[in-house]
Amino acid sequence: MSSREYLSGLFSLDGRIALVTGGSSGIGRGIALALGRAGASVVIVARREAELAETVSELTGHGCRAAWVSADLATREGVRTAAERAAGIFGEPDILVNSAGINLRPPMSELGEDVWDTTMAVNLDAPFLLGQRFGPGMAQRGFGRIIHITSQQAHRAFVQSGAYGVSKGALESLARSQAEAWSPHGVTCNTLVPGFVMTPLNARLSADPAKVAALADRTLTGRNGLAEDFAGAAVFLASAASGYVTGQTLFVDGGFSVH
Ligand SMILES: NC(=O)c1ccc[n+]([C@@H]2O[C@H](COP(=O)([O-])OP(=O)(O)OC[C@H]3O[C@@H](n4cnc5c(N)ncnc54)[C@H](OP(=O)(O)O)[C@@H]3O)[C@@H](O)[C@H]2O)c1
Repeated sequence: MSSREYLSGLFSLDGRIALVTGGSSGIGRGIALALGRAGASVVIVARREAELAETVSELTGHGCRAAWVSADLATREGVRTAAERAAGIFGEPDILVNSAGINLRPPMSELGEDVWDTTMAVNLDAPFLLGQRFGPGMAQRGFGRIIHITSQQAHRAFVQSGAYGVSKGALESLARSQAEAWSPHGVTCNTLVPGFVMTPLNARLSADPAKVAALADRTLTGRNGLAEDFAGAAVFLASAASGYVTGQTLFVDGGFSVH
């Protein structure tokens, strides 16, 4: 067996179908591109059509099978509709990546019910509902990969964690509950934990060079994250190689969390 065949047996996503929420921007976009280039047919879900179309065109430019669904994951009806439309394109997904997320950051004393509800809806309810929709089918077919994107704020409070940190902490618990339920049937459920990644989510923080430098100093690698830093970890967690890894949180943060 050649090294290429060996690596392909471990990591190739040929023939797999992936659904990536938030796949039109930032970390989700980096992951969608990686899964597609590793062989998966990819459907990305977000609201803005121009960004969705641009990412799909980059994927197809690499020779990948890709499509998009525009939907608002802040409502349960929106999630349900998105799931059916996405599954109608290439078929039921083998890989589900929940990267769509919002971070509204009001000071805790001003955190109202509206921000709490929207944060939970996008960051926690949508991953839960998509898991309920696709997890049992993955288990029935004997293979599945669920990957959530959480945050340092699932583990520690800083830069106004508020409702956001709560939603991400719960998302890590959700991964463990899903792993308990479906891993006996070949479905692994894990979370990737970014550090500070320069994406539109952080536009305000990223505009302050002193804060950006201070955050880079908190890593061991000496720099902040890039969307492409998630490619290898996502392909690993989506592939056959990670079949014995489940319920885990993998920090892709340049060492931010360990000192
Ligand atoms: N960047 C960081 O430093 C960092 C750190 C820790 C964790 N994270 C997590 O990583 C994930 C991705 O973040 P990012 O930095 O890549 O952010 P981003 O560039 O702002 O991307 C967020 C994605 O989610 C989609 N989205 C947001 N609200 C949505 C809704 N209501 N319905 C459907 N789609 C929605 C956005 O598209 P539309 O706006 O077009 O809908 C976009 O595709 C998030 O879960 C975030 O919490 C990021």
